[in-house]
This record gives sequence, C-alpha cells and structure tokens, in this order.
Amino acid sequence: MHQDIARVLIDEEVIEKRLDIIADRILEEFSGRQFVVIVILKGALVFTADVLRRMPIPLEIECINVASYHGETKSSGRVDFLDAKLPLVEGRSVLLIDDILDTGRTLVAVEEKLREQGAQMVKSCVLLSKDKERAAEVEADHVGFHIGDEFVVGYGLDYKGLYRNLPYIGILKSEIVEASR
Ligand code: XMP
Repeated sequence: MHQDIARVLIDEEVIEKRLDIIADRILEEFSGRQFVVIVILKGALVFTADVLRRMPIPLEIECINVASYHGETKSSGRVDFLDAKLPLVEGRSVLLIDDILDTGRTLVAVEEKLREQGAQMVKSCVLLSKDKERAAEVEADHVGFHIGDEFVVGYGLDYKGLYRNLPYIGILKSEIVEASR
C-alpha cells in the first residue's frame, strides 16, 4: 500500500470482478444498438479503459473535460466545461462514464449538455456513488460501488493531481490533506 494511504476501501480484485458484471449489464442495456462512449476526464480514464476492454464490440470513444473539484477535497459547486468543442452526439445513443457521483452536479450538467446537442439517448455509468443527499437529483444507470461520504483517491481519482495510478480505491491519511493546505 502507498505510504500516503490510510486504508484501502476497495481492492483491485474486487474492482476487477465488479467490472465483469458492469460490462455485461451495459452490453445488455444497449443490445444491438450502436453507441458512443463519452468519458469524463480525467477521473474516469482508468475505469473506462478497464470496463471497455470487457466489451468486444465496435465502439467509438470520445472525451469531455470538466472540472468541479479544482484540486480540493470538496466540490466547488460549479461545473466548468473545459473543451472548446464537444463531441458530436446529434441523433446518437451515448454511454456517459464518470468516476464518481458526489453532489450530482457534474452528471446533471453533462447529461443536459448532451441532450441540448441532440443526443437521442443518454445512459450513465459511474464507478462510485457516494450515499448522500445530492445537490441535483440524479442517479447513474450503472454503478460500480456505493460508498460513504468520504474523499477517495486511486483507480483514476486524484488529490491535487496525484494518486490516479493506484490500482485500488483508498482513503488518504489526514496529514497528507492537512499538510498540503
Ligand atoms: P459531483 O459533485 O459533480 O462530483 O457529483 C463529481 C466529480 O467530483 C470529483 N469528486 C471526487 N474526486 N475523490 C476524488 O478524487 C472524491 O472522493 C470525489 N468526489 C467527487 C470527481 O472528479 C467527480 O467526477
């Protein structure tokens, strides 16, 4: 375990097993339908790469860059779209993938944007969903794991840009968060 991690919340083996199930469910949901996958960067990168490799079908992958945490451990309450141009989704079915559902603002803002751009169907998938009251009423169609209201890192999730490469999901030692304030 990395020295900055206080405890592992979900280990690699458990994630791997869950991904098999999620991939099957997504394939079932879209069965026979062409769809484009839109990854919300950067947090969903690792999860997406692993889950899509369990789907042996022709797929298009696009990315959207949004920010709401701005390097902190609490949401800023604002969702910023960082791309000059968004993927073309008019008339298309979309699978939107994010790392974690927290306040719900990101998923709501991105889904709204895709519908505005003419997406015909939007389904969402998140690796993690925090069990808490949300600022925006939303649930993802596919959820890897439900977790408590704690700040987590690893498997794509970061603190100040670090820890995305850890193969598990963990909780940072409090002194790491405090020391960098
Ligand atoms: P909202 O609040 O819009 O949040 O549902 C979604 C985005 O916030 C980030 N986020 C986290 N990042 N550990 C992280 O590293 C966390 O515990 C966490 N909670 C929320 C993340 O970027 C997500 O896409």
